[in-house]
Order: sequence, then structure tokens, then C-alpha cells
Amino acid sequence: MTRKLRSQAWFGGDSKDSFIHRSWMKNGGLPDDTFDGRPVIGICNTFSELTPCNAHFRQLIEHIKKGVLEAGGVPFEFPVLSCGESNMRPTAMLFRNLASMDVEESIRANPIDGVVLMAGCDKTTPSLLMGAASCDLPSIVISGGPMLNGKFRGQDIGSGTDVWRFSEEVRAGVMSRADFLAAENAMSRSPGHCMTMGTASTMASMAEALGVALPGNAAYPAVDAHRARLARMTGRRIVGMVDEDLRLSHILTRDAFANAVKVNGAIGGSTNAVVHLLAIAGRVGTEFTLDDWDRWGQGVPTILNLMPSGRYLMEDFCYAGGLPALMKEIAGLLKLDAPTVSGRTVGENIEAAENFNPDVIRPMAQALVAEGGIAVLKGNLAPDGAIIKPSAASPHLMRHEGRAVVFDTIEDYKRKVDDPDLDIDETCVMVLRNCGPKGYPGMAEVGNMALPRKLLEKGVRDMVRISDARMSGTAFGTVILHTAPEAAIGGTLALVADGDIIAVDVAARTIHLRVSDEELERRRRDWRPPVPAMKGGYQSLYVERTLQADRGADLDFLVGCRGHEIPRESH
Ligand code: FES
Ligand code: MG
Repeated sequence: MTRKLRSQAWFGGDSKDSFIHRSWMKNGGLPDDTFDGRPVIGICNTFSELTPCNAHFRQLIEHIKKGVLEAGGVPFEFPVLSCGESNMRPTAMLFRNLASMDVEESIRANPIDGVVLMAGCDKTTPSLLMGAASCDLPSIVISGGPMLNGKFRGQDIGSGTDVWRFSEEVRAGVMSRADFLAAENAMSRSPGHCMTMGTASTMASMAEALGVALPGNAAYPAVDAHRARLARMTGRRIVGMVDEDLRLSHILTRDAFANAVKVNGAIGGSTNAVVHLLAIAGRVGTEFTLDDWDRWGQGVPTILNLMPSGRYLMEDFCYAGGLPALMKEIAGLLKLDAPTVSGRTVGENIEAAENFNPDVIRPMAQALVAEGGIAVLKGNLAPDGAIIKPSAASPHLMRHEGRAVVFDTIEDYKRKVDDPDLDIDETCVMVLRNCGPKGYPGMAEVGNMALPRKLLEKGVRDMVRISDARMSGTAFGTVILHTAPEAAIGGTLALVADGDIIAVDVAARTIHLRVSDEELERRRRDWRPPVPAMKGGYQSLYVERTLQADRGADLDFLVGCRGHEIPRESH
């Protein structure tokens, strides 16, 4: 190493403090030369048995450590808060920002020269990147990889996507309870995260598209030896990145975000990527707005035939060539000069990629959806924007006008939705509110409201739904999300009444409540903000300081890069 590294401020020299820093670390049997100036690599582990998607990280980390040692570095694992999507209430998203604080402070406070970020389940990827971006040390992502394809009675079934479908079929009386339970065992067959193009696979793809993970990161299944090898190469590479001082701010440029947005459209990626990428950009200080997302996403076809937009799963994507092959198909849309953690440009990373299955990764001429980019709608119902994922929506509803049926809270929705007397038909627009960042709190994945049973029984499978919530990346439907400002702070969504007419035109990017300004003003005078459920604790801090969805729903005081200098000693 040619430079004196950051870790030497702890481990170098012969002061009382350096004695303390070294001696305690040596209690595990480390030899003297551990502290001779070689790169100290922190491995940020989101392992938790309560985050089943990341529960194999104790095995995966061994490969990373070997790679670090082989390249002449010293690996030290450290844990951070693990946000597990399937269990955490009221929603894992509430804790993304808390986890990002843990990551940021853990990196900055410790004698670390570079960081490997072990990501998997949905919120773990953004929380790690947000925290690391606020420190800006050399950092590289390795994802834990998707589960093997679900297999149920000879059919492939996908995490999440088929849960939504099965549960609607149970409610419509088409699937038995016993079959529903049998499918549980068949869906999750191996370690790894959701193997649909849900948020975990989307964010693993985003990490690769942004250039903060090595090529191949998105698709190798968790149990594939390729994943272990990638972990080992990631461990080797971070040591080189420390030598080159290749930091996140060098990689996470505007071009990188443009590439990520385009790849998101091409993979039919999760709408959650919108809030996550906005938040990551906010941390690193790169200009990137919701309007950029809309503009960059235009003209991008969805070419990946994966659930929920298509029919295949991540294992198939891997065998078809993975993200490098997909990026090569859309190379003409990408900024190929963008640098990546591999030390090569995006163009160089994908040069040798091959598409082995053109039904999984379609050539652009045979796209699944011609306009696949997530669209940003604006109008009096969403002055700061709302989003919709066209690849998961019904073409016949992309331009629609209908009567609002309003649910005031998620409980109100659950109480009313299956009431046979609910005044609703398939032309109506279902409106759910008080589910945004402050309202839920944490902006839960409830925006893809299941349809009323009586309409399901009639064979209706999609309707226009609008909310200030998010939806699972594994979900589908003509679902308009992230409405900003949210209802809980008095956004127009709070003022919609049953029977109002709502007009949506995705091609024109508009969303309108056909109610006069005067009437809305009158309703606003009668509106009272909801009372937060919890007083004190992290929830209060979150509710008080969270930004709206169009700003990535980060906490206002966490925006920005605070660097990694720590001038004072601890003793
Ligand atoms: Fe963890 Fe889907 S629940 S990735
Ligand atoms: Mg999810």
C-alpha cells in the first residue's frame, strides 16, 4: 500500500491509544503484522435469522474473508440492524433509515479503510448504500442472491407474486385452503431472497447497474457456487479499491443513476427502487430527482420476462446470462463510460456478455412492454408526483376515469372491502390513504389493495388503485403509489370523497381529482391530521423528520455526505 491508510490512525504508532486499539483486537489471536498498515476491511453483515433472506450470510461471509486475506487485507465482520421484509411490523421500510444510521456510524467510528456491504432482503441494500454513501469510503456491495425457483405441482411459482395470486384465488373460491398451505413449502426452497423481480432482486440489479457491485451480482442464486466465487472476488476487489481510493462518490454519479433507471425499466423493476435510489443519491450528494426518473425511463422497453411482469424467475435469468446480458441488449441506452467497482467501465463489464435465452432476456425488438419505465404522474391529486409501473399494469386501464371509493385507513379498507353492500364496480377507482411515510408510519406495502370479493367472483382481476403507500415489488396491477404529499400531512389525497371523479392518463403523465379548488379549500378547512399511534421512541423521530416519497423518504437530517473523518481519540 503506497498511502498511509485511515486505519493507521488507530493501529499505527506506539502511543497508549494504539496499544489499546491493537491489544484488544489481539484477544482473538491476531499476529502483530495485522496492524502493519495493510488495508482493514469492514464486512457489514445484515445476517439475522429473523431476516430469512439473509440467513445464509454466515456462510457467504467466509468467502469474502478469504478474498480479503488473499489480496493482502484484514477482514473484520460487523453486524448492523437487519431489515427483514417478511416479518417486520408495521413495515421494514420504517427501519431502513434507522439501519442506515447504524451503518454510517459503525463505518465512521471504526478503524476501517474499505467496506463490503452484504445485502439481500429488500431494505438491506438501500440502508447499506445510504449509510456507506454518507461516509464515502471505498465500498462494494455483494448481494446474497435469490432463492431457487419455487416449484409447486410441476409449476414454477414466484415469491410474493404467486402469494398475491393464490390468496385472490382462495377469496374467489378457486383455490382450496389446503392447496394454499401446501404452496407455502413449495415456494421457498433454498436460502436466498425473493426470486421474482421483487425489490430484493431489483435492488441487487440496481447495485450492479449503478456499478457498486461486480458484474453477475444480480442473478446468481444464493446456493450457486458462482455466488460464493463472486463473494470471494468481491473480497479481493475491495482491497484493490482501497489502494485506488475508489470511493462511492466516484461511482454514484448522475450517469450511474441514469443507467440504473434505464435498467430498472428494462427488468420491470420494483417501484420501491424509486424511493431507494432517490435516498441514496441524496446521501452521496448527486443531483437526481423524480422528474429525472420519468425522463430517463421513457423509451425503455421491459425486456426481462420475469414475474411479476412476465413468467420466469431469477434462476432462469441467471442461466440466460444475468444482468450483464440484459445490459448488453440495451447498451445503446446506457452510459457505457460510467466507472464501476470492478475498475472497468460499464461498457467493458458487459462487453463479453451473451444472451443464452432470448425468451427470458428478450431482444429490444421483442420487448415484453414497449414503454416499461416507471412513470411519474402529476396533477392536483399528486402535486409532487405519484408513480406507476406500466409493465405490471393493465393496458386498458392506463387511461381511465372513474368514481372514487375511499378507504381512510388500512383498517377501514379491511373492514369494508368484502362487504357485499360496498358500492363499487370495476370502473371505480379504489383510494387508500394515511399509508404514507408519516401516516402508516413507514409507507407500508399496502398499495396493491386486493379487489373486493364480489368483483373477484365476477372475474375482475384489475382495477385502478391509488394510495400514498408503496407496494411489494412482487405485486402487480394498475396501482398508483407514493402519492405526494401524503394524506397524513394534508395532501389532496386526504380530501377525496366517495363519488368524486378521478382521471388518470399515464401517457400524458396526469392524475386529476375532478373537484374545484374552492370545494377542496372548503374540505381542507374541515380536515384534521391523524394522531400518530406511538408517542416517543424512534417512531416519533421518524414521523417528525421523514421526507416525502418524492425525496426518497429519508430523514431530513440524514441527507448528505458527512465523510469519514473522526478527529478525536476515545481515551
Ligand atoms: Fe426478503 Fe422478499 S422477503 S427478499
Ligand atoms: Mg418485497
